[in-house]
Amino acid sequence: MIRALALAAAAMALPSIAAAQAAAAKPDPAKGQSVASQVCVACHAGDGNSPLPANPKLAGQFPEYLQKQLANFKPAGGKKAERDSAVMAGTVANLSDADMRNVAAYYASQKLKPETAKSKELAAQGQKLYRGGNLATGVAACAGCHGPDGAGIPSQYPRLAGQFAEYIETQLKAFRSGARANDANGMMRGVAARMTDPEIKAVAEYVAGLR
Ligand code: HEC
Ligand code: HEC
Repeated sequence: MIRALALAAAAMALPSIAAAQAAAAKPDPAKGQSVASQVCVACHAGDGNSPLPANPKLAGQFPEYLQKQLANFKPAGGKKAERDSAVMAGTVANLSDADMRNVAAYYASQKLKPETAKSKELAAQGQKLYRGGNLATGVAACAGCHGPDGAGIPSQYPRLAGQFAEYIETQLKAFRSGARANDANGMMRGVAARMTDPEIKAVAEYVAGLR
């Protein structure tokens, strides 16, 4: 009788364990907000609209992309971090996988306050490259992977529209030199390797004002 009861109790406990596991894998933006307000706010602001161009805007970005970047900033399995940033490495060192998932979900849910292009001429040059690439040198059109309006393609082709031009430029140069090498199959390194400095500047300007 006692044994039967115990078995029944165990059988009842099973679904709740499964539910708890499902809940653990599901992001909790409210918990993410508390991480953001304690750890990230100084550089990325409470709503992910960072005030300084060195710190990318996070608001409205795909949560999976943000989560991947956070994981990439963290050295794992005795190997160095896939994406090198002294600042971000220090920040993610104390975050758990759940913290990263939650904070990514929180910032993704925030509304982007987009940048604007400051030079129309430069942005017009950038638009050509963004839409059509450079056939002569083999630069692929950005639109193919980041969407015609720069909104990105879920979940691993990030949104670019409205990002700081300075940050876009820095990242393109980092992909070109190989300093940033966390892109799957070298997709971005392949594109950036063929780009000139003026092309990088122009496309970054266009992207900042893209909607
Ligand atoms: C001291 C300033 C600072 C703090 C604090 C900080 N960041 Fe950053 N973050 C940066 C900088 C600078 C970069 C750009 C790194 C690079 O050069 O690639 C960055 C990049 C990122 C990126 C990559 C974005 C992209 O578009 O690829 C993510 C995601 C990110 N931070 C999330 C966070 C989160 C979440 C926190 C809090 C847990 C946080 N950061 C705390 C400065 C900071
Ligand atoms: C073949 C697909 C592909 C093409 C074409 C492409 N990209 Fe990307 N891009 C990616 C992927 C994938 C990532 C994310 C890499 C990662 O996981 O960190 C990325 C990331 C980026 C980032 C970093 C964003 C951030 O928030 O840190 C920038 C900037 C960027 N691309 C700009 C461009 C520009 C400008 C062009 C056109 C000249 C372009 N890309 C063409 C696939 C592509």
